Amino acid sequence: MRTFLSPPCMNGDAERKLVVEAFASNYIAPCGPLVDAFEREAAARFGFEATLATVSGTMALELAARALGIGPGDTVIASDLTFIASVGPFVTLGAKPVFVGSDPETWTMSPALLERALTDYPKTKAVVATDLYGQCCDMEALLKVCGRFGVPLIADAAESVGATCRGKASGKGALLAVYSFNGNKIITSGGGGMLLSDDAGLLARCRKLAQQAREPVPWYEHTAVGTHGRLGNVPAAIGLAQLRHLDDALRDKARVWDLWGDVLAGRDWIRRMPTAPYGVPNRWLTVVTLDGVDPLAAVKVLADAGIESRPLWKPMRLQPVFRGAPVYGTALEENLFAHGLCLPSGRTLDRETVMTVAGLIDKLRG
Ligand SMILES: Cc1ncc(COP(=O)(O)O)c(C=O)c1O
Repeated sequence: MRTFLSPPCMNGDAERKLVVEAFASNYIAPCGPLVDAFEREAAARFGFEATLATVSGTMALELAARALGIGPGDTVIASDLTFIASVGPFVTLGAKPVFVGSDPETWTMSPALLERALTDYPKTKAVVATDLYGQCCDMEALLKVCGRFGVPLIADAAESVGATCRGKASGKGALLAVYSFNGNKIITSGGGGMLLSDDAGLLARCRKLAQQAREPVPWYEHTAVGTHGRLGNVPAAIGLAQLRHLDDALRDKARVWDLWGDVLAGRDWIRRMPTAPYGVPNRWLTVVTLDGVDPLAAVKVLADAGIESRPLWKPMRLQPVFRGAPVYGTALEENLFAHGLCLPSGRTLDRETVMTVAGLIDKLRG
């Protein structure tokens, strides 16, 4: 059987039971009692005033961009080391991206580099900062910098559901936070996302945009153009059951992180991602840097053994589609891409597989 990087993991019969409940209610639609419960319980669990469940994390980012009125020629600052969805929806609306590099102690957006970027681009419409592989950005520091320039901060917390920063849920403090419940995330709805905010008015605007910007009258009336982005009641059933077991997922992911630490101990040429002192990561993926081994060679050897791994995110500055975009970074982001490897991190990963991976990587070093 193949070992996947971060496969979905159901909690006994919990998900199936709620899916059956969704069918019994016949809310097989992008509304219904389980979507409402998913939004309500997520707001309570993560401590936000308001939430909106969406068809994907990418859609949540698109709704954030639309709600902030992002348009042609606007500058948007984003993390350089991230997945393209952090910035894609903004660019689609016509924004020009500026990329900001990482802090070596956290690999997330550097507040000092952000300050430099904002000094040169003080009219920036939004900053999108990505939590990386389950580790939160330093929200306090980023908010301070954004506050000095009066620029809203959007937290792309797609990868950090369940993580905390100084005791607060990932994304808390940002104007809008985005979570992903894609199939490979720590909890999943099979595909889905969420917007979370303490600005209930702004979240209501996002909700309206997610429902074709329909006006509250009996006929179809529109004073703006929206989209169709709400999560369905059936995937919400899965997401809700997963949310109720988030603590189990966090415990399992921490076990996997520790297991890698244990098995890799003594190899000073393999280092796990640093843990920021201000937070508790969700350990979505165990990520390492390798000295003396090409990560692409490791990905190939492991794939031949039926084990999935992958390089770190290729920095946005290196993406052909963003050629020429301004960058406020260092060599760190490119070095992490050149030397980093995401290891299998499934909740049920066993010691034997971890030992097999370590042995195969050892052989590559010769
Ligand atoms: C940093 C980041 N942002 C955004 C997304 C988009 O989320 P989704 O796949 O749910 O659209 C992802 C995940 O895939 C991600 O890792």
